[in-house]
Amino acid sequence: MENLVLYRKYRPKSFGEVVNQKHIIQTLTNAILLGKVAHAYLFCGPRGTGKTTVARILAKAVNCEERGKNFEPCNKCPACVEINEGKSMDLIEIDAASNRGIDEIRELREGIRFSPARLKYKVFIIDEAHMLTREAFNALLKTLEEPPSHVIFILATTEVHKMPQTIISRCQRFNFHKFVLSDIVERLKFIAKEEKVKIDKPALELIALNADGAIRDAESLLGQVMAMEDKDITLEEVQTILGTVDISAVVEMVNFILKRDAAGAITFINKIIEEGYDLGQFTKSLINYLRKMMILKTAGNQEIEKFRNLIAPEFTQEQLATVLEQGQKFSSGDLIKLLRLFIEAENQIKSAVFPQLPLEMVMVELLGDEHI
Ligand SMILES: Nc1ncnc2c1ncn2[C@@H]1O[C@H](COP(=O)(O)OP(=O)(O)O)[C@@H](O)[C@H]1O
Ligand SMILES: [Mg+2]
Ligand SMILES: [Zn+2]
Repeated sequence: MENLVLYRKYRPKSFGEVVNQKHIIQTLTNAILLGKVAHAYLFCGPRGTGKTTVARILAKAVNCEERGKNFEPCNKCPACVEINEGKSMDLIEIDAASNRGIDEIRELREGIRFSPARLKYKVFIIDEAHMLTREAFNALLKTLEEPPSHVIFILATTEVHKMPQTIISRCQRFNFHKFVLSDIVERLKFIAKEEKVKIDKPALELIALNADGAIRDAESLLGQVMAMEDKDITLEEVQTILGTVDISAVVEMVNFILKRDAAGAITFINKIIEEGYDLGQFTKSLINYLRKMMILKTAGNQEIEKFRNLIAPEFTQEQLATVLEQGQKFSSGDLIKLLRLFIEAENQIKSAVFPQLPLEMVMVELLGDEHI
């Protein structure tokens, strides 16, 4: 329950609250101040990076009754409140992924000729717009060629390469970026504080790491953790909840590789499965560990602390010593080869007949190799 609530509860309601995406916010707020808002926007980028969020803020900003010379919506006037509560007839959200939008686009073509019911602008947000049918695209194209002055389209997509060029060229395009770890950690820290939960930095970093650049995913994970734990959350608790294997399992695996002990490694992989861990997670942890090893290896002695803060802030002093020590026994070429093999294996685990097979194959392949 709580994890659902968190990311809705903390959806930014004004431009100033949006994390990162500075280039987009800058251009949009300038356009609002100059009264030069475009009639069609294309928001591209991975999920959970703020496309829907920014689209709704824009819808409020153009319709806000109290905005005056500011670019921020007031979030208090009837127009803002109506939109925040999802009750406005003039903010129409179409999810092209769920029904491919045929009926909606037809309605849209007919409805578009009428003025907004109450607000200044009718705003159409078309989510996963690349999923629209060809007919829907054609209908949309006709509308985009001559958009009525009271209408704004915001098309959002995670796969812009599937959008027809004719549509793209009629929109003002913005690329939403994934977040760096520190952005996500900051946001989580803010939410934890608001929720009066104590959670240490390494724990936040582990959550952020697992979110793969999406704030929404990080917020969901934080919600899961908060729902299950007390008001004082530690790294160990997060590790348990996320099912991430303790780093010592990864260290042990690397030791098998160093000893060229394929039989030991294969036994170990099967033991991990028996103990109920997720092999995909384990492989991700292994890749992450080897990545740190590779990068720390390239750092000179005086740079190690800097790199450590950058890529391994969650490591304890002993873990840092271990990764450096193991790293000395590999060449950079070895590490790159290992990373390539494990990245490939990680991709295959989900679809493999036996989830352990891709990892077992890596071990056999390594054993037959002269260089490692
Ligand atoms: N740039 C951002 N700043 C702050 N929170 C964000 C941002 N992007 C996403 N979020 C969080 O993730 C949730 C989902 O974001 P959303 O805008 O729906 O992503 P998208 O439409 O790109 O998939 C939001 O409710 C908010 O909690
Ligand atoms: Mg969205
Ligand atoms: Zn307002």
